Amino acid sequence: MISKASAPGKVILFGEHFVVHGVKAILCAIDKRITVSAQQIPENKISIKSNIGNFENEPTKPIEEIQSEFRPFYYLATKMIQENNANSGMEISIISEIPQGVGLGSSSACCVAAAAAISGVFSKKSKDKILQLAIEAEKTIFPNTSGADCTVCTFGGIMEYKKNEGHSKIQSEPKFHLVIANSKIEHSTKEVVSAVQDFKEKNELEFSNLCNEEEKLIEDALSCIKNNDWSGIGLDIKKNQEFLELIGISNEKLRKMIEVANNSSYGSKITGAGGGGCIFALTDETNLQSTMDDLKEYECFSAKIDYKGLDTF
Ligand code: MEV
Repeated sequence: MISKASAPGKVILFGEHFVVHGVKAILCAIDKRITVSAQQIPENKISIKSNIGNFENEPTKPIEEIQSEFRPFYYLATKMIQENNANSGMEISIISEIPQGVGLGSSSACCVAAAAAISGVFSKKSKDKILQLAIEAEKTIFPNTSGADCTVCTFGGIMEYKKNEGHSKIQSEPKFHLVIANSKIEHSTKEVVSAVQDFKEKNELEFSNLCNEEEKLIEDALSCIKNNDWSGIGLDIKKNQEFLELIGISNEKLRKMIEVANNSSYGSKITGAGGGGCIFALTDETNLQSTMDDLKEYECFSAKIDYKGLDTF
């Protein structure tokens, strides 16, 4: 039996990095997906086929010896085979519409879709259980994850998220469009998160003040979202970008892209770990095309909120 699942990528509208240190974040899932298929095979091996490369190994290696991009899949496959006392290997294939390593949740979407597809070979599990497995798998490559990305990739929609407290969906369905532009500078979330940890240790008071400011900003953004106040959300997005500049996760290229995007959109900022990766700009039907035109020298595309989240079939 082939078990298949797909999960959306994500954009962090507000609160990346601060969320790792206990501040609330606002995230949404986007209409770009990763699909994972899994099936048992008689040979004693884990085999992975994907557009970033292929992998094959026996299921007995220590996880640290596995290349990091394949680690979550290997972790999930060996765990499920063991838990189900299956005398088999596993073949996994991955198809992705989400660029890798640019802050759009490709690794979280992989972990969520893989947790559902691989566990689904044996039995169907609830979304809460899949999320738990996906976060365990993500921790094999990024031990300090706040869990925000996997949560929005599992449940979809637009949500508030707080580490250790979980998520709460925002019930309104805002009709904004996001324009996402890729700096083409790859980043490692783990390294950027650890650079922010260093910043926090060296600048304790400044970091704690910034966390308080971010909390206030997010409360204001939540009320703007509930009132469909695009200009208000845009101003908050710009303010959030100033905080991200202060913690040192921006660079010249990202600043330039944001300046261009601010020309026609309501506001733009880095999304995800930063240090490279993507920026997004908030638009509606009136300024979507002009923002796309302004950003045309970069790889860019528009995205809407995905309300479905994890899908199994
Ligand atoms: C990465 O997409 C978001 C970060 O806040 C890390 C995390 O929340 O785990 C940088």
